[in-house]
Parts: sequence; structure tokens; C-alpha cells
Amino acid sequence: MTIAQALTTDNLTKVEEPAPWWRQASVYQIYPRSFADANGDGLGDLPGITSRADYLGALGIDAVWMSPFYPSELADGGYDVADYRNVDPRLGTLGDFDLLIEALHTRGIRVVVDIVPNHSSDHHVWFQDALADGRGSASRERYIFREGSGPEGSEPPADWESAFGGPAWSRVADGQWYLHSFAEEQPDLNWSHPEVRADFLATLRFWSDRGVDGFRIDVAHMLTKDLTEPFPSKAMLDAMPQDGQHPLIDRDDVHEVYAEWRALFNSYDPPRTAVAEAWVARSRVPLYASPDSLGQAFNFDLLEADFDADQFRTVVRDNLELAAASGSSSTWVLSNHDVVRHATRYGLPHPDRLPDGRPSVKHGSEWVLSGGVSPEFQAADGERRARAATLFMLGLPGSSYLYQGEELGLHEVAEIPDSQRQDPTFFRSGGADSGRDGCRVPMPWAASGSSFGFGPGDAHLPQPEWFSRYSVEVEEGDPDSTLSLYRQALGLRRKLQTAETLEWIETGRNDVLRFRRPNGWEVVTNFGLTAFPLDGARPLLASSSVDGDSLPGSTTAWVMPGT
Ligand code: NOJ
Repeated sequence: MTIAQALTTDNLTKVEEPAPWWRQASVYQIYPRSFADANGDGLGDLPGITSRADYLGALGIDAVWMSPFYPSELADGGYDVADYRNVDPRLGTLGDFDLLIEALHTRGIRVVVDIVPNHSSDHHVWFQDALADGRGSASRERYIFREGSGPEGSEPPADWESAFGGPAWSRVADGQWYLHSFAEEQPDLNWSHPEVRADFLATLRFWSDRGVDGFRIDVAHMLTKDLTEPFPSKAMLDAMPQDGQHPLIDRDDVHEVYAEWRALFNSYDPPRTAVAEAWVARSRVPLYASPDSLGQAFNFDLLEADFDADQFRTVVRDNLELAAASGSSSTWVLSNHDVVRHATRYGLPHPDRLPDGRPSVKHGSEWVLSGGVSPEFQAADGERRARAATLFMLGLPGSSYLYQGEELGLHEVAEIPDSQRQDPTFFRSGGADSGRDGCRVPMPWAASGSSFGFGPGDAHLPQPEWFSRYSVEVEEGDPDSTLSLYRQALGLRRKLQTAETLEWIETGRNDVLRFRRPNGWEVVTNFGLTAFPLDGARPLLASSSVDGDSLPGSTTAWVMPGT
């Protein structure tokens, strides 16, 4: 080999491929029915989202993830899909979808859609056929139908419980029972059936061909099941280890499904991406995040942590290790459509700041949690901590998932009358759990007017009066608003983004975290009450106003030494 050739080869090996877009993306979750309503029927729709494309562009996000917009009876906010390859007519048409994708792609925003493979809607043609064709029919094989137990099969085949409360088996008119891990209107599909597998491949191809960049996979850990009889009892299931062989949860064989999906994703250029919603043991997350499987997995640890330095540090350390184990990048999330918004969680007293501690207002300002606690709620403290937590998260290596409305500092809406609630968790728990509607109330775009600019009519969930001061219209004009902070942070994040590592810097305080990214970008968060001296460093951006070089409590600053 000549010296020239050697140099060339050497140079070639040094040319680094740009990292795939999703590894450190900021992804904004849209809950389509509550984002923007173009036709005034009270439900958000695809043309509504398109009409707000400039807003999304100005926010500085890399991608949008859309919760389901497919035809649905809305038994579970759209996670009960009646037709996987179509748009709910109330939300638009496939043509509207194409226009939306074009509007977002033109602005450099990628599009991720939600795939719900564990269950369909009971209105799906397959389930309707299964009901019509009766016991023993081929159509029943696509779902999980069994005979009941007890006299004349009048008891369910097992005492399993649905994730939303109540029994996991329901009986149909001819006496057979079917399994639904969630609501009764969400029958579980039979993933041992080749037609089920083939049909989801067709769905993934359908949306990939339409230009979708990636997929979020709903309950990715529950598709495959070992339904050998006799069925174990719920108590036995609960006692079994979730080590890949559990009959219902996180089975090793689910990755055979995802290997097929991966081959399909990789047949596109660029490869389509996927992120797993997988509630599994920490040690098993890398299986889903592996490049041979879905490629990335949600990590809900930050969302489950309190606003606490120790907890945040542990979560970051553990998840960077996990990401390294799979070769994927980590994901971070503080709010989504299933949990109490983080501005509200952080406004509750310490022990109650849990994502499922659903607050509801009883008398004026008295907040009552599902656990029956009546804590004093501090809205402003919650917002301040939420801004600090968000700026901490956006400085981390990996991808950050943001949920619509959090960029406005929106709180959970607790004051929804029971008569207007929609979430099955409210109904199936007999009202004990007030459900997830409080984080799904339609966006306030304007300070006044019909549904605060959400649409020309009333919104499908009632918006409280206080939405006015969190509206885009109000916040756009205020340089200190949460919206202004998100815009600055997301813009700056793109410029500062660097290799996927961090180094912790000792602060001498156990309530202050500080880390440095490889290009010198530093993130400092003061979780405590006492100010922390920044020793001359001038923040590029801070989550609350900083006086001189002293970082006040509940505040994050981004610092670039030498600037
Ligand atoms: C997880 C989704 O995030 C949630 O909203 C839904 O209710 C369940 N999966 C069932 O599909």
C-alpha cells in the first residue's frame, strides 16, 4: 500500500457519519383531538395542526409525535383503533394527512405516528366479524376468545384484571369471553396469528410510504402471550418474575415481531425509527432499544422522580448506562397525555408529586388527590420547578419528549365535572381515579373568544377561565413567559448539541447538580432554596431570572464558559 493510499484509507475511516436525527431530537407530542380544531366540531383535527405549522416551526422542535388520529369510537382517547390505515373522518382525510406531513417537512420537522398493536377497537372490522361469525370461526382466532369457567361458563376464564381496573375478560352474546388488557372496547389481538403480523407490517409500510419518519409503539411489551391452559390466577401472575418468560408481560418472543419490523424500517432510506412504550424491568429496556429491535425505548424515570437533585442524578446516571448497553440514545420525558402535568406535580407537597396522583379541585383552591390527601397546592412554585426541570432535561444527551401545552407552563385541569369526563380509567374505577382528562384539555391559543382560539366552537373538554393567561397569544408577547423560555431553549439546544456524553461537576452541595457536555456546555440546577454562586460564569439562559452570578433556588442555568 502506498503512503497516499494509506492516508486516504486513514482519512476515510475518520470521516464520521452524521448521527441519525432521532438520537438527540426534541420531539413534541401532539394529542390531535386537543391541539387545534379547524372545523369547529369541538374536536381537534389534522387541518387544525397544519394551520399551526408555523407555531411548531418557531418552537424549534425536531419532530412531532402524533397520538392516534385513526378512526375510533374514542373509548380510550383514540387508543382504540378501528382502522389502522385511515384518518378519523372527524379529524380529516388521508389527503389532509399528506398536507400536514408536507407542511411539517417543509419546516424541517419530522413526523412520528402512534401504532397501537396490542389491541384494536371493538369496532374494527375484524372484531365485528369475530362477533358475527361466532364460536370456532376463523375470525375469532385473530383475538383471544375462550370459554368461561364455572357453571355454564358464566365466570371469566381467569380472574385477571384490566390495566384500567375491572375484569380483563368480557363476555359476548353467544357466551364466549374475550381478553382485553385495557378497556372492554379494546380487545387484545392474537399475535400468534400470521394475519395479525402481516397486517401490522402492511400498516407500517402504508405510513412509511406516506412519508412518516418514525413510530411510537404503544404498550410494546405486551403483544405476545403464552396462553397455555389452565390459566394462572392473577395472584400467580403477579408473583411470577418478569424475566422474558412471563405469560403476559415482556416476553422474549416479542422481539421476533420487532425483528421483522426492523427489517421493514431498514428497507427505507433513511431507515424509519421507532420508540417503544415498554413498562419493563430496567435490565430489559435495552432489548427494546437495541438496533435489532425497535431502536429506542421510553424511559419514564424522570417523569416518576420528584424535583430532587439526588433522584434526578440517579435517573440520569442509570439511563445513560442503559443507553450505552443497547447502543441507543436515552429518552427523557416529564409530561405526556397519561400523567398529571409536571407544573402541577411539582406544585404539590413532596410525597404527592407522583404522575398518577391525579388532583381534582373540590372547594375553590383545595386540591384532593385520588389517595384522599388534601394538600395545599402552590401553582407558582410548581411552574418554577417545572421550568427548571425542563431546562435540565433539554441539556441532557439523548432525545427529549415534550407534551403539548407544557411549553405554556399549563397546569392539569382538575375542575372537569364528572359528567364531562371521558377517560375510561375514571369510569372503570367507579370515579375513584379522576383519570387523564385533566392533561388533555384543548390548547389555549387566544386570551379570549370561543374555546380560547382552539376552534370556532366549544372544546370537547371544558377549558377553565385561567387558561387565558397561559394562552399562546399572551405568552408570545412576554419575554419572560414559559413559551419564550422553551423557544430560546430549543433554539439554543440545536446550536449547542454535541456528543452524547456528560461529565458531572462536583458542586459541594447535595441540592445542586452541574454537568458539562463535551463542547463545554454546562447545565447547573439548583433544586434547593439557597442561592448557588456561579463564580463569574454568565448564564446563556436561565429558567428564572438570575441576579448577578448567583443561581437562585428552583432554577436551572445553561452556561458556556468563555462566552
Ligand atoms: C398507553 C397509552 O399512552 C395510553 O394512553 C393508552 O390508554 C394505553 N397505552 C392503552 O392503549
